[in-house]
Amino acid sequence: MAAAAFDLQGHRGTRGLAPENTLAAFRTAVALGVTTLETDLAITKDDVVVISHDPMLNPDLVRGPDGKWIVASVPIHSLTLAELKRYDIGRLNPAAKYAQQFPEQKPVDGERFPTVAELFAAAGPNVRFNIEIKTDPTKPDLTVDPNRFAQLAVDAIRLGKAGGRSTIQSFDWRGLIEARRLAPEIATSCLSIESNGMDTVGRTSGRPSPWLAGLDLANHGGSVPRLAKAAGCAVWSPFWRNVTAENIKEAQALGLKALPWTVNNPAEMTRLIDMGVDGLITDYPDRALPVLAAKGLEIR
Ligand code: G3P
Ligand code: CA
Repeated sequence: MAAAAFDLQGHRGTRGLAPENTLAAFRTAVALGVTTLETDLAITKDDVVVISHDPMLNPDLVRGPDGKWIVASVPIHSLTLAELKRYDIGRLNPAAKYAQQFPEQKPVDGERFPTVAELFAAAGPNVRFNIEIKTDPTKPDLTVDPNRFAQLAVDAIRLGKAGGRSTIQSFDWRGLIEARRLAPEIATSCLSIESNGMDTVGRTSGRPSPWLAGLDLANHGGSVPRLAKAAGCAVWSPFWRNVTAENIKEAQALGLKALPWTVNNPAEMTRLIDMGVDGLITDYPDRALPVLAAKGLEIR
């Protein structure tokens, strides 16, 4: 009997092993055999679609042409591609708390913010992409608006001839709905999180969350999978702590794939696999491989 298929996604490439969202991290993930590269987008001043988790330059990981980690941050949208390419993102600032989270990350000095075109070229033809539109309805001035962002992302994916092997994901479902309208050939993935630190669902707020494109949880029985289905998503991608066996089953009964993020502990990976997830997003694909092998799951 053929082994069941599983979508193993390398988060920001392989953030646990190589500098996040760099070509080095993507190459590491591909070499490990991931199905999918998870990554994040920003738009430069001259409208180039580049890879960055943060809409602002992040002092924890960005060094200026003087070789020092930056102190003052600026939005990527205020820089041209040529200006952005002057920064080095190949090493975490050892003085930053953030660096302590990733002790296995090997620096690769000289890595630059990649463009999406460079990502596609480096990744080769056999890997998939899960590409995040990073807009925030509570901080509209930080980026281009979600509709424009969706248009630029769709154009970049089509230019890379990667539509059939890409998913566009976002916490801000406005961009996802626009992406569906513009590009029915590209699947979308509805991200959600309900936690003390961040909550895009707003279950107890008494009004629709600004992250959900006007969709109202109250009209969908309080079910985030039903909401994701209504938003036209093919995938529901919840924060891993929000996953239950019930909500995974519900999502799959609606025809959605269920793909939690960001799972780094092998015991948690095992628990989620036992709940029936279709894949998972991890900073450490190397840790997931033995777990999947033990479960008889084939990565594809
Ligand atoms: O794919 C979902 C995950 O990447 C969302 O979290 O903050 O790492 O983009 P973040
Ligand atoms: Ca992301």
